[in-house]
Amino acid sequence: MSEARKARLGVLLSGRGSNFIAIADAISNGSLTGCEIAVVLSNIADAPGLSAAQQRGLATEVHVSKGVPRAEHDAKMIAALNSHEIDLVILAGYMRVLSPEFIRAFPNRILNIHPSLLPSFPGLHAQQQALDYGAKVAGCTVHFVDEAVDHGVIILQRVVPVEDTDDEAVLSARILEQEHQAYPEAIARVLSGKYATRERRFLKR
Ligand code: GAR
Repeated sequence: MSEARKARLGVLLSGRGSNFIAIADAISNGSLTGCEIAVVLSNIADAPGLSAAQQRGLATEVHVSKGVPRAEHDAKMIAALNSHEIDLVILAGYMRVLSPEFIRAFPNRILNIHPSLLPSFPGLHAQQQALDYGAKVAGCTVHFVDEAVDHGVIILQRVVPVEDTDDEAVLSARILEQEHQAYPEAIARVLSGKYATRERRFLKR
């Protein structure tokens, strides 16, 4: 009997890749089913996440972005994702704003994780922004990507407390632990197809 076709994920990363590893682990241990990582792409040649992907025997590609106009670089990324017949694009610490062309190439098929409770603290150093603001809770958000930065429909959020003794590293680590659970769970929800979006609301069906 032939197995049902698995959804093909294309992971984009720029650095450490711990969210990628959490997703890959969830697939290997059977807690995230119905999908496979078809390719891992990076804009940074020596991103540690790339070596982690290679060690797992996954297909990887580097398309260096430094010094390349955004539209030109994104065209290469789109072509790479299309050549691997990607169903869902997973931004996992991909520290580059996507062009409108990229977003339109994969409508409602790009997910991102951000280390804050959006719409609070978009952009860089979200955890430090939360500390500087004096927030008492922080967390992470998995959302669809649209043409505004850190803005698309929210799929799920996880909350953590901010303790008086926290610095950026301590708070980031507490949030990251939640990120590693939240991202596979959000991917599973999207792949299940059991949801509807109404304006900004992601509703389970
Ligand atoms: C994660 O904390 C992720 O939420 C954040 O970068 C880190 C990547 O870590 N992403 C953003 O800030 C995107 N705006 P990782 O490489 O270990 O997954």
